[in-house]
Amino acid sequence: MQWTRFPLWFGELFTGAKSFKANPLIGSDRLNRYGLHVGRVWLAYWMSRLRMAMLAPGVPRADREQFQRYGYVLKEDYLPEAQFQALVKAVREYEGEIRECCQGDTNTHRILLAPEVLEQLPAVKAVLEDSALKRLFRYCAGHARLPICHVENVHNGSRDSATARDPQKNLHVDTFQPTMKFWLYLEDVTDENGPFVFVPGSNRPHRERLKWEYEMSLRAKAHADRYTARGSFRVSEEDARKLGVSGPQPFRVKANTLLIANTFGVHARGNAEPGSSRLALWGMSRTNPFLPLPGLGFDYFNRLQYRVLQRMRRQEDARAAAKGGQSSWHVIEQRRL
Ligand SMILES: [Fe+2]
Repeated sequence: MQWTRFPLWFGELFTGAKSFKANPLIGSDRLNRYGLHVGRVWLAYWMSRLRMAMLAPGVPRADREQFQRYGYVLKEDYLPEAQFQALVKAVREYEGEIRECCQGDTNTHRILLAPEVLEQLPAVKAVLEDSALKRLFRYCAGHARLPICHVENVHNGSRDSATARDPQKNLHVDTFQPTMKFWLYLEDVTDENGPFVFVPGSNRPHRERLKWEYEMSLRAKAHADRYTARGSFRVSEEDARKLGVSGPQPFRVKANTLLIANTFGVHARGNAEPGSSRLALWGMSRTNPFLPLPGLGFDYFNRLQYRVLQRMRRQEDARAAAKGGQSSWHVIEQRRL
């Protein structure tokens, strides 16, 4: 063990770091037997609840209760029909940089909705700048900074059949801390193009969940599944039933449905037919799990996070190119989703 790195590993305990493999303290059998992992889960949850409470003003009580009790908010017919049609048209006609990520047999295409892109997409900007939506985003994220938004098109089974299964299609939790993700579906979501699957009620650290987290924390480091070893635990069907109020529920929803979910809850990308795709506005927000305050939400910070992501992607591109390969989120030639 390289003990010179101990201060770094120790410092990471107070951040969103989650890998049982990369950080020997997070992965420590002894510390986890004393409750390190479960303690982080519990504290992260209650700190997020504290921040959410501060962001509650102006958010309808029904939405808050639904989100806390079941881990998601679903709003059908979200936009007025004419506005929705204009939004879909604008997105489909937009030409710009598309990045692709291939996981198993799924290729995800995304356009980052950075400030300069939004200027060219006023129909999208109007949706994302709605103050009621911003309040709901902030509440569900437990942070005043807004989510990083993209237009996303998920292409299912577009690689050859010899390719491994998409790891996101197995039930899992993203991390040990509450994390907000949202989708505003721009087309119908069916069994054909793969509904988001969620276990309602699995977003709370109740006794059963903490027991499961404890057991997983003792096995994660040496787990055969590399995502589990990195702290994004995969969940069996049997465990999923125990962790929520019901089993996994697929969200087969109409176009123009807004879904916001806490992906600390058990979820998966639903199975889909090869060749199908699913278009949505998509975004996510994750912050330091142990912050007691929700931040200030200045527009400057909202913009800055796009710059940071853009720079990170370019650095990944350069590193991959130096090795003669492609970064995991590489730019593709296609310019339209
Ligand atoms: Fe996930």
